[in-house]
Amino acid sequence: MNQLNETDYGTPARASEQMVTLEIDGVAVTVPAGTSVMRASVEAGINVPKLCATDSLEPFGSCRLCLVEIEKDGRKMKGYPASCTTPCEPGMKVQTQTPKLAEIRRGVMELYISDHPLDCLTCPTNGNCELQDMAGVVGLREVRYGYEGENHTKMKKDESNPYFTYDPSKCIVCNRCVRACEETQGTFALTINGRGFESRVSAGQMEAFMESECVSCGACVEACPTATLTEKTVIMLGQAEHSKVTTCAYCGVGCSFKAEMKGNEVVRMVPYKDGKANQGHSCVKGRFAWGYATHKDRILNPMIRKSINDPWREVSWEEALSYAASEFRRIQAKHGKDSIGGITSSRCTNEETYLVQKLVRAAFGNNNVDTCARVCHSPTGYGLKQTLGESAGTQTFESVMKSDVILIMGANPAAGHPVFASQIKRRVRQGARLIVIDPRTTEMVKSPHLKADYHLKLRPGTNTAIITALAHVILSEGLQNESYIQERCDLQSYKDWKEFVLREDNSPEAMAAVTGVPAEIIRGAARLYATGGNAAIYYGLGVTEHAQGSTTVMGIANLAMCTGNVGREGVGVNPLRGQNNVQGSCDMGSFPHELPGYRHISDSTVRGQFEQAWGVTLNPEPGLRIPNMFDAALDGSFKGLYCEGEDIVQSDPNTQHVAAALQAMECIVVQDLFLNETAKYAHVFLPGSSFLEKDGTFTNAERRISRVRKVMPPKAGKSDWEVTVALAEALGYPMPYNHPSEIMDEIAALTPSFHGVSYDKLEKLGSIQWPCNEAAPEGTPIMHVGSFIRGKGKFINTQYFATDEKVTQRYPLILTTGRILSQYNVGAQTRRTENSQWHSEDRLEIHPHDAEDRGIREGDWVGVESRAGQTVLRATVTEKVQPGVVYTTFHFPESGANVITTDNSDWATNCPEYKVTAVQVMPVTQPSQWQQHYERFNRAQLDLLKGEVPAEPLVTK
Ligand code: SF4
Ligand code: SF4
Ligand code: SF4
Ligand code: FES
Repeated sequence: MNQLNETDYGTPARASEQMVTLEIDGVAVTVPAGTSVMRASVEAGINVPKLCATDSLEPFGSCRLCLVEIEKDGRKMKGYPASCTTPCEPGMKVQTQTPKLAEIRRGVMELYISDHPLDCLTCPTNGNCELQDMAGVVGLREVRYGYEGENHTKMKKDESNPYFTYDPSKCIVCNRCVRACEETQGTFALTINGRGFESRVSAGQMEAFMESECVSCGACVEACPTATLTEKTVIMLGQAEHSKVTTCAYCGVGCSFKAEMKGNEVVRMVPYKDGKANQGHSCVKGRFAWGYATHKDRILNPMIRKSINDPWREVSWEEALSYAASEFRRIQAKHGKDSIGGITSSRCTNEETYLVQKLVRAAFGNNNVDTCARVCHSPTGYGLKQTLGESAGTQTFESVMKSDVILIMGANPAAGHPVFASQIKRRVRQGARLIVIDPRTTEMVKSPHLKADYHLKLRPGTNTAIITALAHVILSEGLQNESYIQERCDLQSYKDWKEFVLREDNSPEAMAAVTGVPAEIIRGAARLYATGGNAAIYYGLGVTEHAQGSTTVMGIANLAMCTGNVGREGVGVNPLRGQNNVQGSCDMGSFPHELPGYRHISDSTVRGQFEQAWGVTLNPEPGLRIPNMFDAALDGSFKGLYCEGEDIVQSDPNTQHVAAALQAMECIVVQDLFLNETAKYAHVFLPGSSFLEKDGTFTNAERRISRVRKVMPPKAGKSDWEVTVALAEALGYPMPYNHPSEIMDEIAALTPSFHGVSYDKLEKLGSIQWPCNEAAPEGTPIMHVGSFIRGKGKFINTQYFATDEKVTQRYPLILTTGRILSQYNVGAQTRRTENSQWHSEDRLEIHPHDAEDRGIREGDWVGVESRAGQTVLRATVTEKVQPGVVYTTFHFPESGANVITTDNSDWATNCPEYKVTAVQVMPVTQPSQWQQHYERFNRAQLDLLKGEVPAEPLVTK
């Protein structure tokens, strides 16, 4: 996979069962009906000159460069049709090269060039410019009109966007950028302003890009055929020399990118057209926010220290690893085998995660391994396994293009899964209906050319009530798919569930008081979901991160099963995974009770297979979950932790509790890129490697396994998988792998749903959706076709219980949390990029009524106090949130969003109840006590990193 230029077919491919045969330049060509003459030509190896056409966009027909001559039924068609807008017809005879066409094309090019600065030699896209190429193709040698006439060559650049420039002097007004923003991205930020000669591309109403609606996805930059819209890195570094296809390390969409390189330096990341998850699209994070990989804050040498009051000491890899191993063994000798554990991250590759759980189970000799999926999608794993039989989403992203009704619950894909949001928006523009269940009015409720048919603006914490009320409407109005249920579902469970759902206390009228959503809206949404055709559900952390997270997931599955919406394209139940490899980290056995492939550790047959392969005896008892590790640390029985790629101090709830637990431990080993919040409590620091520095695989929300390819050597000398291997060896447990492909071979051998996966096959197919085995050698795009994985689909009763986190006079508001487009998770990566220009602090959104009651104005500092703690943020007064609800993001450690979240968690999986915290909000004038402490502690830890001893020790250990 090393390629710089891909073929541009000029117009998108068409799918049709009907084929059309025509003749182009004497060559017979057969294409699906609806294919343009331009595309048919390129497919036949004949290139027609073009400027305004590109195969990611619908044809526009403005540049007149692609004209051809066509004969049909023995008669020449009138004029010179544009090949990009002319569909192929049977029997057509097309001429793409004639003297007359050459003359017309030269004339067109002359006009363009006479209004274009002649600075090709110093132009950043020299050698990669379609205008330059076309001048060569049409053989333009001179411009008869001269360059003196009226032109645009002196127009000023817009450099406001941190990642790309807009140089209007080079614009040929081909409209590709405008169409990309509309068709590909769905933001509608660009227009062509003015008419005729005056016309120019404009962001918003002649605004600078940064002031406009633009979300910096880069689609317009990718579409622009000239140097008008150009990446600043290309301007700075010049054109790339080579490229490799890899996978974005941010969200669960899992976009494919071509990393375009000059030597070992990334010039730009270009969304890969053949990437099955993104089909050539991207968002600001994957496209532009990769600079963190070379940020000066990266720690490139292993470090150790005795206590967290000591300065860090840089040491060799050998010393760091043998120190970590000896500490772990010392602790186990003194406090028992179970006194240490490991945490892996959904940011790591499958291979890395597999190794961490293997190290814990085989080298530590216990099952104390957990992953950050604990705090996001563990209820998905549990809920979908119980009902459908497999802990994963059912569809491909592409499947949404066959949906007639799209139900989004507790997710804001426009911020969290932007490329998929663009796809949803595209489908809605084509006519699909949209239901959004969310306490906030997100971009998925209302944005340009998009309006949800129903917005169920519920109170946080009442998901289970609403999902059961939706089912009540379906069953009480007889809208269920009885034949599907009879054929595919467990009938006893259906009978019990039906009885439960039909209870009057589950009716929308009864639930309206609980959820705050008027009954007729619930009824309307239920009817639409059940009767609107193919209906698909997409949900996120707004569903899972609740005391009843698992219950709601099961409720979602109930809803889909009872309407027959599982098991084909356009339907399904789809968790939108937050981080790049949430699906993979769960698949790889990183929960304490499960071996890879979701098989319980107590299953002696499965355990026996791993024991044989690993040459050890495994403990049949599940180990500690993350919150149990913290509790055990405070009890004094858990003393050592290996934490790879995860920042538990910032991302887990009740920060002060987590920090206290870490301070109670004797050896914390952190493997990461930066001195993150957890590393500030660590004793050994092992430098991590970014996604650009290692080989491996990520599995996205569609179960799609994609390759991560090393494009530069690891900056600290070792890829993450090599570090885990070295630590295992230091512990006396050899893991003799030479390459991550060998780790994947072991995963495949031991995990039925991965039996058919190999790097060779990934190379051949590009990506694979598991299960991939003897029954499905090329993977499984849609799950549960014909029957459910568990046999019969099981309905489970979803009794609503109000959360323990009660609103009271003292804490009268509900705080809920989420993320924003430009930042990612704990922000460790995105905060170290220009993305902070869009979002440089976490703010508290508050409704104007609640703000007025408290005398809070836009931008004021406000104290947010819960039963767990207090923090101070600035206020944004907005009607996006409803009265009684406040909202914040959690991307900056100093905001302390998790200082106020509580210890409450999902009953089945311990997933924290991040989305519901009762709080009071009041104007304040100074940071909270915790923030003041954090500032001192942080400053001291940064001093210790520089080898300086702070004036006073901050912790007593
Ligand atoms: S970067 Fe994306 S959102 Fe911004 S103008 Fe271009 S296409 Fe539109
Ligand atoms: S900015 Fe680029 S894509 Fe947009 S109209 Fe101008 S030349 Fe075409
Ligand atoms: S962050 Fe997500 S949507 Fe954005 S480019 Fe990366 S994988 Fe794609
Ligand atoms: S490429 Fe067909 S008119 Fe521009």
